[in-house]
Amino acid sequence: MTSSAPLHGPLLRERFAALDDFLLKHQELWRPVPFTALRLPWEDQHPQLAAWLRGRTLAEADAIHNHPELLPAPAPYPQLAERSASLSDIGELPAAQVDRVPNGFTVDVPGRKWQQIEAFASRLGFLQAPRHWLDWCSGKGHLGRRLAHDGGALTCIELDPQLVASGLLLSQRLGIDAEHCEQDALAANAAQQLDARHTPVALHACGDLHVRLLQLASAAGCRQLAVAPCCYNRIDTPDYEPLSQTARASALKLSKADLRLPISETVTAGSRVRRQRDRSMARRLAFDLLQRELRGEDHYLPSPSLPTSWLDKPFAHYCRDLCELKQLPAPDDTRDWDKLEGAGWQRLAEVRNLELPRSLFRRPMELWLLLDRALFLEEQGYQVTLGSFCQAQLTPRNILLLAER
Ligand SMILES: C[S@@+](CC[C@H](N)C(=O)[O-])C[C@H]1O[C@@H](n2cnc3c(N)ncnc32)[C@H](O)[C@@H]1O
Repeated sequence: MTSSAPLHGPLLRERFAALDDFLLKHQELWRPVPFTALRLPWEDQHPQLAAWLRGRTLAEADAIHNHPELLPAPAPYPQLAERSASLSDIGELPAAQVDRVPNGFTVDVPGRKWQQIEAFASRLGFLQAPRHWLDWCSGKGHLGRRLAHDGGALTCIELDPQLVASGLLLSQRLGIDAEHCEQDALAANAAQQLDARHTPVALHACGDLHVRLLQLASAAGCRQLAVAPCCYNRIDTPDYEPLSQTARASALKLSKADLRLPISETVTAGSRVRRQRDRSMARRLAFDLLQRELRGEDHYLPSPSLPTSWLDKPFAHYCRDLCELKQLPAPDDTRDWDKLEGAGWQRLAEVRNLELPRSLFRRPMELWLLLDRALFLEEQGYQVTLGSFCQAQLTPRNILLLAER
């Protein structure tokens, strides 16, 4: 199964079938979310693994978060880790030598984004030279300009009028022949923006946005396209609606909540953001214990996302305000708040560690979703190649779908 080469041809279908099998067979491990359950159903089947994970610290969980396959946990963990690694193996797309562009092109582009753009641009090994780039959900259009720097035409599609205006200004300054269209990619009239001459590209267009592009571009007769998807869970339907006939025939049904799994990696978050997120999660987990007691119901109670200023409130105020927001009885003043807050941190450590078996299915699920897109494009007559365009440290959404017909 180890390929370390991009996937194309019959490999796409073969890998899809193997991933489908793996995900279906181990649903009890990846479907339940540790954050919302005090105990997970699989803990009874694998008590040794559960106890081992529950005994670890938050720092230990975080240290292994991005490489769960390396964790020396009891069975069945190592076997699952090995299978996950081999099913997730996907090689780099061949890199072509690309022209350097003048420094002006990097104005206004964050460093990491520019590296992603350069990597993306270097992997577009199309057989026919593109003539008119279409940058879908382009933001300011940095990717499109990078690709059209040598005289190709460029159309950028973007919803946010400010990004459209800034993009236009940047294109004019650099002398790029670009049209920046303020357009909702999901609106019915978006189809009018595409025709057979275009080579659509999309770097990190979320859920429905990149799916729409695949549908519109294939219907418009575009000969080539290159898409690096992200945020698979940003969809308008409650459940995932597969695109390809193959995925539609699968018994695997994914909810919107399941679709959060592939993007639950935190590779690129900075330490300040991580500390803030931990504090917020520990408080929520502590509040979860409190609300179960106050309601006399042993179930998770969803609460809305709260402004970060809530984290500055003393913990007791935080809980009282959240009780009020959720219309729960007010907790009494004699409670040991430090103890409850500590219990929240303890639960956070347990949750992060119990998430590790689940995280072995992150990449397999992402690849299943990408292969659904690849197989859909194949059904539309494209030759499709799926491979990475940069290291995961640069962006965890590092896989590019290249299609040509
Ligand atoms: C994650 S950003 C990616 C931007 C750019 N491709 C990049 O890599 O920097 C997604 C972009 O999609 C745009 N967007 C969101 N909803 C949209 C819609 N319905 N139609 C068009 N663009 C949309 C956002 O404004 C944002 O610029």
